[in-house]
Amino acid sequence: MIVTIDGPAGAGKSTVARLLAEKLGFDFLDTGAMYRCVALQGIRQEVDLSDEDKLAEIARTLVLEFDGAIVLLGGEDVTAEIRTPEITSLIHYAADNLQVREAMVSLQRKLALEDDVVTEGRDQGTVAFPEAECKIFLSASAEERARRRVEQMRQSGEDASIEEVLEQQNLRDQQDEAREVGGLKAADDALHVITDGMRPFEVVEHLERLVRLRR
Ligand code: DC
Repeated sequence: MIVTIDGPAGAGKSTVARLLAEKLGFDFLDTGAMYRCVALQGIRQEVDLSDEDKLAEIARTLVLEFDGAIVLLGGEDVTAEIRTPEITSLIHYAADNLQVREAMVSLQRKLALEDDVVTEGRDQGTVAFPEAECKIFLSASAEERARRRVEQMRQSGEDASIEEVLEQQNLRDQQDEAREVGGLKAADDALHVITDGMRPFEVVEHLERLVRLRR
């Protein structure tokens, strides 16, 4: 069975999708991490990220593995490095590149062949797995998403204002929504879940019920 979870940045998709996969005993696919690895590898190889062919070549030859929450690039743990603000600000080079998207979608389909999977991203229900048995579009208001992000940053010792985070988030929402191929869009048959005021475990329980209804 394939469960897709799409939605904007900061909707809590990763945490919730990972917990849901654990509860169901499914594999978990963090597709944002895949695009992040393409950008990171491009920087490491000192490639001009706007060179579409070179970045696509990197995407096609990426040696990527997931070990639970750990992301391994060529065997090296890059879990923290792919989430730095630098990578986040450069990710659009990977996400806007059609050849990169093609390579990523084909890798996602290959990984999902092996087992039941919960896959999380922006285009999983629309492009990668239009036949998925259960599609969820997870969202929350912009203010709630920014508040959660600030809270998360404070817990890890970083400081940021809601205004700063909101500005960055709005920019990323615009970039994600404007992307012609693979942009952020709910599939016509997606179930919309708005998580304002809900704690992660409540969201997971709700999603689990939705999935079990479709099994
Ligand atoms: O979910 P995330 O923040 O790790 O995703 C990083 C970026 O990657 C996001 O801004 C858009 C892009 N992305 C994408 O284009 N398609 C996906 N399936 C997943 C992520």
